[in-house]
Amino acid sequence: MKNSLFLFSLLLFIILPFSSQTQTPNIPKPPLTQAHTELTTYGFPVGLLPASVQKYTLNQSSGHFAVELGGTCKITLPPDNYLATYSKRITGKIDQGKIAELDGIRVRALFKWWSITGIRSSGDNLVFEVGMVTAKYPAKNFDESPFCEGQHSSS
Ligand SMILES: *[C@@H]1O[C@H](CO)[C@@H](O)[C@H](O)[C@H]1NC(C)=O
Repeated sequence: MKNSLFLFSLLLFIILPFSSQTQTPNIPKPPLTQAHTELTTYGFPVGLLPASVQKYTLNQSSGHFAVELGGTCKITLPPDNYLATYSKRITGKIDQGKIAELDGIRVRALFKWWSITGIRSSGDNLVFEVGMVTAKYPAKNFDESPFCEGQHSSS
């Protein structure tokens, strides 16, 4: 299916800023928040959330969560300059290895915003859901929490 192939390569670009971060020596590693460590409890890597988490709530019985960032978080994805945004508030429902009802993470492509609606953990991979379309990537690409654009330490 052409469409899913496209999204597959599109979502690949999400990973690049995450992995290139480690190769930039003058950018310090961001501190991890409770939201980040809780992700690992559910079988997800910390890199799914940017560094700018300010507030985090989780209803342990229903799995509904809300993450609040300092503001809208923008990441430009090289090499083709796709834009990904995290809303100020990201909500969803987390279960072991499964995030559903996700709201607040979008990727810009083909003059359109595509919402990532769910993420599943599958062995060493993460499966991203964009509506009916899915794309699979190695989870190790998300081992580090990225900085938002314009929020790097300037020192
Ligand atoms: C947490 O989820 C449970 C089950 O859905 C619900 O009954 C309860 O009211 C929720 N608690 C809060 C604080 O929202």
